[in-house]
Amino acid sequence: MSESKHRNIRSYVLRKGRLTVAQQLALDELWPHYGIERGKTVLEYGEHFARPADVILEIGFGNGESTWQMAQQEPDKNFIGIEVHEPGVGHLLMALEEHAIENVRIACEDAVPFLQHRVACGSLAGVRIYFADPWPKKRHHKRRIIQPEFVSQLAHCMTQGGILHLATDWQPYAEHVLEVMQFSPDFVNLSVTGDYCERPDWRPYTKYEKRGERLGHEVRDLLYQRA
Ligand SMILES: C[S@@+](CC[C@H](N)C(=O)[O-])C[C@H]1O[C@@H](n2cnc3c(N)ncnc32)[C@H](O)[C@@H]1O
Repeated sequence: MSESKHRNIRSYVLRKGRLTVAQQLALDELWPHYGIERGKTVLEYGEHFARPADVILEIGFGNGESTWQMAQQEPDKNFIGIEVHEPGVGHLLMALEEHAIENVRIACEDAVPFLQHRVACGSLAGVRIYFADPWPKKRHHKRRIIQPEFVSQLAHCMTQGGILHLATDWQPYAEHVLEVMQFSPDFVNLSVTGDYCERPDWRPYTKYEKRGERLGHEVRDLLYQRA
């Protein structure tokens, strides 16, 4: 897929959040162990993980609350978390060390070019995108990460039978996902009702879910299988 097709998707805003001293220390001391440096070549997972296993990519992990808990719950898998927000990366690094978690590696960059250049075709057993920025204003809808070109890039990177899991507390965003995904020839919706699924127990309960509930929003889980 050509890069130009993706050029317009800028699904995040780089907030100027200041790093705490502890986060800076984690970046200095733990990044060399857990971090995936930027590059242009396709990743060899064997160079990053201690043992071969299915690889799950979590896109936009925020503070990494879900990431470390899923990795702890699913020790038979390898996880790559990707996030542009450095303080969040520092936060996750600290959690990985605190809980002695070894099956997570972190990339600190935009997931769109990362998928294009660094992830081998058919190499991801799962992709998880939780509480993606919903970009509620109409003029910003094009910034939502779920777009047809991005979905075909995901399909390209995933194994047959791999699971794409999204969760959101913003109903218009959930409907946007349903609409984009229904035109994808590469994914099958796993919902028995053709829309949303039961909350799978592998998804940890995090602050975005709590906030959504406080605001009276329903949380939607969307699960798709790579055809
Ligand atoms: C609303 S937060 C949700 C965080 C987390 N998933 C959770 O549930 O707690 C969305 C996150 O996605 C990140 N993000 C958005 N687009 C991204 C991209 N293209 N690449 C990497 N991270 C991205 C943002 O920086 C932000 O931290």
